[in-house]
Amino acid sequence: MKRVAILISGGGSNMLALVRDMVGDHPPRPVLVASNVPHAAGLARATELGIATAAVDHRNFASDRAAFEAELMAQIMAARPDIICLAGFMRVLTPAFVAPFAGRMINIHPSLLPKYPGLHTHRRALDAGDTVAGCSVHEVTAELDAGPILGQAQVPILPADTADSLSARVLVQEHRLYPAVLRRFASGDRRPIAL
Ligand code: GAR
Repeated sequence: MKRVAILISGGGSNMLALVRDMVGDHPPRPVLVASNVPHAAGLARATELGIATAAVDHRNFASDRAAFEAELMAQIMAARPDIICLAGFMRVLTPAFVAPFAGRMINIHPSLLPKYPGLHTHRRALDAGDTVAGCSVHEVTAELDAGPILGQAQVPILPADTADSLSARVLVQEHRLYPAVLRRFASGDRRPIAL
């Protein structure tokens, strides 16, 4: 049985979608939900579901990113995960953190990568006049939002869309895409999915 750790910074709706899918014939199990935000709503939701949680507040480490990552790594290693899912985890991770999990860490990003890595993806898609937006799940590598793509889902951009309305519509697809990708990834299948 594969052990899955999920890293969040906020509400954790993608974390919940992953957890709800890890039942029955889907052998991975969630062993830890960790956050850099101690009061992240997703941590409370994970606790309600009986999942172990950890909080490592990056603000306690001032500008010492290496020390923050070392503490986060220690908490994660204690849970002995096979796979790490970043689910709205909003800290950039250094190559030193990523390397030990090479090929075992995946992330969901709210754009059709390679378009719009980084922040404000929906605003940027609207400003560019795009007619299609979406989300991507990819392997995490040392370069931000640039690892091999494991799956994408597309969403039409409507004339009246705002960044908020587009974000909400993309999020619905994120909740379909991420569990579907984790299922395949956990079985060793890295062929990309298109929803
Ligand atoms: C999601 O839209 C996710 O794609 C995005 O943050 C949101 C988290 O929502 N992630 C990033 O922007 C990563 N750079 P959630 O906490 O409800 O899952």
